[in-house]
Amino acid sequence: MTDIGKRVLSGMRPSGKLHLGHYHGVLKNWLELQEKYECFFFVADWHALTSEYANTGGIRESVIDMALDWLSVGIDPEKSTIFVQSSVKEHAELSLLLSMITPLSWLERNPTHKEQLKEVRDKDLGTYGFLGYPVLQTADIIIYKADMVPVGVDQAPHVELSREITRRFNFLYGEIFPEPQTLLTPAQKFLGTDGRKMSKSYNNSIYLSDAPDVVEKKIRTMKTDPARMRKTDPGNPEICPVYMSFHKMHSSEETLNWVKDGCTTAGIGCIECKMSVLPKVQEELLPIRKRREELSRNPALICDILRAGDKRARVVAASTMKEVRGAMGMEF
Ligand code: TRP
Ligand code: SF4
Repeated sequence: MTDIGKRVLSGMRPSGKLHLGHYHGVLKNWLELQEKYECFFFVADWHALTSEYANTGGIRESVIDMALDWLSVGIDPEKSTIFVQSSVKEHAELSLLLSMITPLSWLERNPTHKEQLKEVRDKDLGTYGFLGYPVLQTADIIIYKADMVPVGVDQAPHVELSREITRRFNFLYGEIFPEPQTLLTPAQKFLGTDGRKMSKSYNNSIYLSDAPDVVEKKIRTMKTDPARMRKTDPGNPEICPVYMSFHKMHSSEETLNWVKDGCTTAGIGCIECKMSVLPKVQEELLPIRKRREELSRNPALICDILRAGDKRARVVAASTMKEVRGAMGMEF
């Protein structure tokens, strides 16, 4: 089976500025996919509402920040359709229709839902919208008849549920939708400046929008093997985020060996080790920063790009909805 001509769809909730973990974990993957397939990438602002309904003030800015990050890494509006979920109202209509056929029990046993209900203490997530999160997500996917959905392992149960809802729809109303396949993005191993997984909530992130001096400072002050209190103490690169994330991502075999030898024999210092990889990180961020500056010079541009994407997405979504209404006998 060939994959040519297949359609890829993915989205992210607008959570604010993106960091290097997102870049290495998700965006680089999207960059590859956009060269091979017809891609739809959207900002899931309605999904943000499922948890942020009481505090919607930041969402708009986060949507723009996220689109800016996507564009600055090279997600190309000439190649991919980049849009905002809430601009394509058809998602809401399909979500409503799917909600009619989705058994409550499927939603209640969704592991993400159960876990979040237990873990999130500062918000009331016992809402209809939050329970229906995967129904809306299913609408997002199948309204474009997407064949493949690149997501991380945390989102895999949602896509699995989407497949079940899709099968049920097709069984009831005829084979309209392909069953979307999960394209599993390898688990994000990129570590932050404190050695934990890079995450906004840990305050350990290097953002794509950080200025060079900020990046340098963050790397300079980054945690290393705690056993290396002094330069004369030998260390273990395998437990050091400088090595595990930055050197492994960027350094040659030769440099990796230099670090391993130098670290374990206390032959090199941590600052020396960090500074040997810093230029690579700066180099990687340079074109991203340049594109961001270009885009920021013209603030209307982002909105224009999103609006053009919305329009392209809406053509596809509207045509699917026509078919859906026909199949369900809901066309008047
Ligand atoms: N739930 C996804 C997230 O939190 C965002 C999302 C919404 C999505 N709809 C989607 C992802 C459809 C893939 C396909 O990141
Ligand atoms: Fe980490 Fe490098 Fe220091 Fe070793 S020398 S602990 S790998 S920063």
